[in-house]
Amino acid sequence: MNILVTGGAGYIGSHTCVSLIEAGHTPIVVDNLSNSSEESLNRVARITGVQPVFYKGDVRDEALLERVFSRHAIGCAIHFAGLKAVGESVAKPLDYYGNNLGATISLCRVMCAHGVKRLIFSSSATVYAGDNELPLRETSRTGDCSNPYGWTKYMGEQILRDLTVSDPEWSVVLLRYFNPIGAHPSGLMGEDPTDIPNNLMPYITQTAIGRRPHLNVFGNDYPTPDGTGVRDYIHVVDLAKGHVAAIDYLCSHTGAEVFNLGTGKGCSVLEMVKTFEDANGIPVPYRIAPRRPGDLAEFYADPAKSLAVLGWQTRHDIGDMCRDSWNWQSKNPKGYRE
Ligand code: NAD
Ligand code: WQD
Repeated sequence: MNILVTGGAGYIGSHTCVSLIEAGHTPIVVDNLSNSSEESLNRVARITGVQPVFYKGDVRDEALLERVFSRHAIGCAIHFAGLKAVGESVAKPLDYYGNNLGATISLCRVMCAHGVKRLIFSSSATVYAGDNELPLRETSRTGDCSNPYGWTKYMGEQILRDLTVSDPEWSVVLLRYFNPIGAHPSGLMGEDPTDIPNNLMPYITQTAIGRRPHLNVFGNDYPTPDGTGVRDYIHVVDLAKGHVAAIDYLCSHTGAEVFNLGTGKGCSVLEMVKTFEDANGIPVPYRIAPRRPGDLAEFYADPAKSLAVLGWQTRHDIGDMCRDSWNWQSKNPKGYRE
């Protein structure tokens, strides 16, 4: 099937292109390269032997989308395109609401016009409220987001649910990702943050390679076993395969359905540092720093619904994630800008 992949040059999108091609699908990528490099798609080609068709442009450009839908018989869309930096979203809320909600609305408008009514949406565990019991289930309470980025995901989900109510032909899968890390095992593709990383794993790999003097561990006085924050880290290749599993569901159902994509296991910051050091034989110097505002002590998924309904489960453990992240970083110290 021809699958429109918005944001397909990005971290998760490019890995998903590999999984789609391996499953016999044809990705058609639209990306404005605001947070990515076209080189990621050349790496998809090196891994799979297939160069994805690529349109450089903004998903909010409905004329561009018109051309894409007119030229290709698109079967469904996976909508990754969006801005994702939590801190930046607090500083630039209009950019985040404008880009993330604007892109979703434009995409759906053009899809409606072309009678293509199947969409997979990149949502996030950040939509869950902070007071839920763990593990987080798809039925756990959402809302009370602590930043505009989180609200764009919450609102994006609502827009898509409303669409399925307005038109029963629509089929929407809302995938709530937990914490994606890791890289393709070839070392050819991985996460390539342009600025100082906000997220834990890119900060660890940049510290290990000497680009940062040490990792700041944000708080060691949380009510967790070692006092540091606990998250559900998921290997990006497992996450990519979750999208392939969701396509089968998408094509055989209508309405909107939510799935968690996580492992179900929590890992603390210090456990991650230790696992990284053991897996790669590289020290990661760290210092305990104050808590980061807005952080929760702990959260992890209940992935049972994804297994029961999509037949999907994760295969990779934290050791694999640490090994593959380091393989990518050490082979590409400057990411795709080599
Ligand atoms: P990424 O920044 O690597 O990929 C997003 C891609 O979308 C980039 O290539 C960017 O250039 C592109 N883009 C942004 N706005 C666009 C627009 N208006 N038109 C065209 N292209 C546009 O991020 P990622 O980590 O691959 O995340 C993919 C999606 O998953 C995002 O929607 C993100 O919010 C969501 N998500 C990510 C995480 C995570 O931790 N990485 C967790 C949960 C959800
Ligand atoms: C993980 C743990 C930190 C960096 C964010 C977004 C969320 C989602 C994924 C998209 C926490 C600690 C981190 C560092 C540290 N994105 N940490 N030192 O905060 O769970 O989620 O990314 O939807 O919306 O909020 O991920 O990787 O930033 O942090 O100690 O330099 O590592 O405090 O406990 P988080 P993270």
